[in-house]
Amino acid sequence: MTNNIPREEGLDHSLSLLREGYMYILNRKKSFASNIFETRLLGQSAICMSGEKAAELFYDEEKFMRKGVAPKRLQKTLFGEQGVQALDDEAHRHRKSMFMSLMTKSRLQVLHEITKMQWQIAAMKWEQMEQIVLYDEAKEIMCRIACEWSGVPVKEEELKEQAEQLAALFESPTALGPQHWKGRYARKQLEQWVGGLVNQVREGHLTPPEGTALREISLHKDLEGKWLEEKVAAVEVVNILRPIVAIAIYVNFTALSIHHYPEQKAKLETADAKYFQMFVQEVRRFYPFFPMAAAKVRKDFTWEGYTFKEGTLTLLDLYGTNHDAELWDNPDIFNPDRFTGWGKSPFDFLPQGGGDYMMGHRCAGEFVTIEIMEVSLNFLVNQLAYQLPEQDLSYSLVSMPSIPRSGIVLKNIQRIV
Ligand code: HEM
Repeated sequence: MTNNIPREEGLDHSLSLLREGYMYILNRKKSFASNIFETRLLGQSAICMSGEKAAELFYDEEKFMRKGVAPKRLQKTLFGEQGVQALDDEAHRHRKSMFMSLMTKSRLQVLHEITKMQWQIAAMKWEQMEQIVLYDEAKEIMCRIACEWSGVPVKEEELKEQAEQLAALFESPTALGPQHWKGRYARKQLEQWVGGLVNQVREGHLTPPEGTALREISLHKDLEGKWLEEKVAAVEVVNILRPIVAIAIYVNFTALSIHHYPEQKAKLETADAKYFQMFVQEVRRFYPFFPMAAAKVRKDFTWEGYTFKEGTLTLLDLYGTNHDAELWDNPDIFNPDRFTGWGKSPFDFLPQGGGDYMMGHRCAGEFVTIEIMEVSLNFLVNQLAYQLPEQDLSYSLVSMPSIPRSGIVLKNIQRIV
């Protein structure tokens, strides 16, 4: 039996997507009472899907591909060109296995120690200050962590600017005007700088430790046994640095959750490692970050009676699936305990995509994110005393990425020793 996919009428709905942000697919899912609908975005036909079954389909590599999917404005800012995100099949698996080889237990332990140390150093500085904006500080701290962990040498006097440039890559993709151009300019600058470092590694003038991103990416060989083009290697190193800096957003949401749910803070003060893990999972489920993932149909197929035509842009709702009432009880309530009974499906919890790390496009840095968030949560709960002055703590479900408006101002900061 064939079914017609519910269709949103109109010439193009890109503006509605920008206006409704994280809620765009969820709103239509509700009005069509369907987990799938068709619309027009960026001048082309597009299918939007949500939920666990849709995620399972979306991550079927035989049905969908990524080449040529990301719009230019995202390639020029967020992703870069010719990076792992745009690869398919053998070339993707080969590059992805290099990324995943950076995420060993021992390298995550190194990351844990670096993160702990960087928070402590920052806190000593904050004790001397009247107040701080946590988002700005966290970007800088994450940049220090990212560079140290990746074997990227950075001069102290340049660190602030590098943090700002890396942040511009994820703050600018959907922005218009100067902020968007700031992101494009930042990418050019960063790729030039990192490309130079790649070159130095290859010529033996720089020897980052084994297992670090700078070293492994610089010396990685493609399927033909050749080094990546210098520019592509730079894109991939930035693919490690940029998202680590972006964890500053999750740090902000972590601080927000501690503030909004004081009973949770009390619980965390005596909680075990398992509860810390569940808390971090809930922060990643509850708060908005990546709204959706995009792919295109590889060749015609039928699924549940719906026809998917070759080349059709297809969007999977990440935020909406994390808030799907069929998958999560009371999804709009913050409740870390919900993860006690979670079945660990690779398709129902999608803050960083779904499916398989090696075979598919699931985020390569999920373990890194969780490690940094757990250390940061412990720091904010058990190692730091502070107050929040009057400020605007609201966050938008429209602007992408969403960041609490005040950036979270903290005052009267003291270390708990
Ligand atoms: C891919 C989210 C942190 C590296 C992705 C995807 C999402 C995502 C949604 C795409 C999934 C898809 O296309 O199906 C996030 C979020 C993060 C984060 C919300 C929190 C800050 C990280 C970190 C790293 C990283 C820390 C590296 C250390 C990557 C890479 C890919 C990716 C390399 C491309 C994977 C591929 O195409 O195979 N991420 N990510 N991400 N992420 Fe992350």
